[in-house]
Amino acid sequence: MSEMTLVLGLAAAFAAAIVLATHLFRRASVALLTIRARSWVSAVSRILSEWVNATHYSGDAFFSADGADARTVRRRSAALDHLAASFASAHAKSTDWGRSVRDGFSDIRFADANRVPFPFARTMREKFDLTTVVTASDGPRLCDLDGQWSLDVSGSYGVNVAGFERYKDWIQRGWDRVKALGPVLGPVHPIVADNIRMLRSISGLDEVSFHMSGTEAVMAAVRLVRFNTGRRLIVCFSGAYHGWWDGVVAGLGSERRLDDCLTLKDLDPRSLAVIRRRAHEIAAVLVNPVQSFHPNTPPPNDAVLLTSEVRKAEDSRDGYTEWLMQLRFTCTAAGVPLVFDEVYTGFRLAAGGAQEYFGVKADMVVYGKTVAGGLPIGVVCGRRDLMQRFDPKRPMRLAYVVGTFSAHPAVMGAMYEFLMWVTALGRDRQYEVMNRECAAWVRSTNARLVEEGLPVRVVHLGTIWTVLFSQPGRYNWLLQYYLRAEGVTLSWVGTGRCLASMDFTTHDYMALQHALVGATTRMKRDGWWLDATEYPQKEQRMKSRLVQEMLSSLVPTPFKAFHEEVMLRKKDDHHASHNDFGNQMLHLVSSSVFLYCYAILAFDLTSAMCLGLAALFIRQFGHAVLEPDAREKEMTLLGYTTRNKTLIVLGYSLIPLATLVDAGSFSIAAFMQHLPTIAEYWWYWTQFVIVARVVYLVWKFSFRTSMIWYVKLVTDPLTDVIAYFPRRQRA
Ligand SMILES: Cc1ncc(COP(=O)(O)O)c(C=O)c1O
Repeated sequence: MSEMTLVLGLAAAFAAAIVLATHLFRRASVALLTIRARSWVSAVSRILSEWVNATHYSGDAFFSADGADARTVRRRSAALDHLAASFASAHAKSTDWGRSVRDGFSDIRFADANRVPFPFARTMREKFDLTTVVTASDGPRLCDLDGQWSLDVSGSYGVNVAGFERYKDWIQRGWDRVKALGPVLGPVHPIVADNIRMLRSISGLDEVSFHMSGTEAVMAAVRLVRFNTGRRLIVCFSGAYHGWWDGVVAGLGSERRLDDCLTLKDLDPRSLAVIRRRAHEIAAVLVNPVQSFHPNTPPPNDAVLLTSEVRKAEDSRDGYTEWLMQLRFTCTAAGVPLVFDEVYTGFRLAAGGAQEYFGVKADMVVYGKTVAGGLPIGVVCGRRDLMQRFDPKRPMRLAYVVGTFSAHPAVMGAMYEFLMWVTALGRDRQYEVMNRECAAWVRSTNARLVEEGLPVRVVHLGTIWTVLFSQPGRYNWLLQYYLRAEGVTLSWVGTGRCLASMDFTTHDYMALQHALVGATTRMKRDGWWLDATEYPQKEQRMKSRLVQEMLSSLVPTPFKAFHEEVMLRKKDDHHASHNDFGNQMLHLVSSSVFLYCYAILAFDLTSAMCLGLAALFIRQFGHAVLEPDAREKEMTLLGYTTRNKTLIVLGYSLIPLATLVDAGSFSIAAFMQHLPTIAEYWWYWTQFVIVARVVYLVWKFSFRTSMIWYVKLVTDPLTDVIAYFPRRQRA
């Protein structure tokens, strides 16, 4: 090989290495960037969902989850029984109806199962049936089967913006327009053209397609952007809800592992950097603008309301507008379509939806909920190049997005009425008034809550409002029950997401304020929030308890049962033979020494054994002299008999004796000289005693019982220190 060839070969190899290294470096830096921008909440909650076991509070435990004392437990228990009894008598027919359909109606069971944090759910289900069966509406009020009227703040999941009376009218008038055609599908009614015209004008986009629900429309939008960009990845933001399709449910609620939907952090510049760097992979960035209300946190359901910290909401219009603008700019520069999921915000925040409210234009907008005047709907509006379902260059490539009920005449008729209403002159002003009235209600309600010293506040975004708790509490979710008792209808997510509609009069707002203040006052009076003076450090305690419970619920059931049995035996032991204060203090001393011995055992066996034996004698002195009556009881709890204890002590005493006999000297100097050997034999004797006991218990009882004894023995020093530590005893 000539020198020239060698040089060329080396240069080529070097260049290839540089190219490869650059490529790897780029990939690594993109991966790192993605890791930092990614929201891990969904991934972690998914993992947790596979580990967390069902736990249920029952009896007193239900009422003392926050560490309440026996008196408060009694007060709470009586209050809950009273509330349940008044519910049962006021809603007897609804309750019976609910019971009769429960077994065959899985939707109701799902809503019921997710109303409150799961450890409380079973007891609440036993005591309450919240099935709301309604037969009529009048303004924002609903009449249930029992003839009771309540004020509706569920807003029909967001459908009710304009007031039920208007929707009834639109449905009727819409049907009148199309009834000559009836439910003919495939061929379309001419009214569709008007709807398309109005939707294009509102959205500012080129094309429209009709679907049956928000979920279906989101599916269609995702399908279309993938088809038209030729890219797979969808970017969503942390906490955003886009319907129940598992293609956009990254966290809890779906079994599918998503590798084509990336959840990034809202309001985070690193997310923008990821969009820029991975633009060639991203089919669209999907935004749910209602997230401006509670960025990066999940929809505020009462079932996840453990302490107040979990639920956050803020009036962040300016900050979010800035964020959406940056997102818009980034997407435009990177050539990535920006899709607004306005199923919730469309026609609620403003007549022109979030695009108008935040002043930011999207490339595609998904509508739903209210846009069909009260009938089921999903709509996708988009730029022409994103709405294609055929590839003109490759005729076999198509996006199969269709639906039997698309553009159903009844839906199109009601939609026409709604769109005519929403685009009429002066409608913007009506939206402004609606939002202003809700804001005024929020202000005056908060003032009343402060005045009454109640630990609740309300915050809003337009007419979407939520309850925040200014005091930590494990029972904040109970407010939804107290509110219902005050005649307020909430959706199954409870106090987390409530709505006002355009037909709320001053009288309705006053009634709502009265109900909220009344419900909170009753809840406070019934003792569901612990008094800070009676319970100093209640927040820390609540949190550490929560963490403890969470960790213990991660432990597989057999281990948990084992742990419970060990703890039960410890408890029995304490009751049986640790009642004398002097004995308890000796246990505290000996246990502390044992713990020290555990720590030094591996590298200083001699000191560990000497100290350990001294501690053992102190301990036995406590039992034998200070609390001798307890010995019999202790034996019944797998403890040693007096004869066995004597034998064990004899063993420990004989070891130094035998060693000194062997050494032929009984002086202190000889004892000290042979102490390491003596300690080693003491160690072997200890092991023998323990193993012999385990074997005996296996033979006499079972392997499990022997292990319970063993684990208890080894962990007793720790639990004794915890139990007899003076500060803890005072608490
Ligand atoms: C933002 C958003 N997208 C999609 C959906 C799903 O709509 P639907 O329940 O009509 O399927 C919802 C429903 O609440 C929503 O709020």
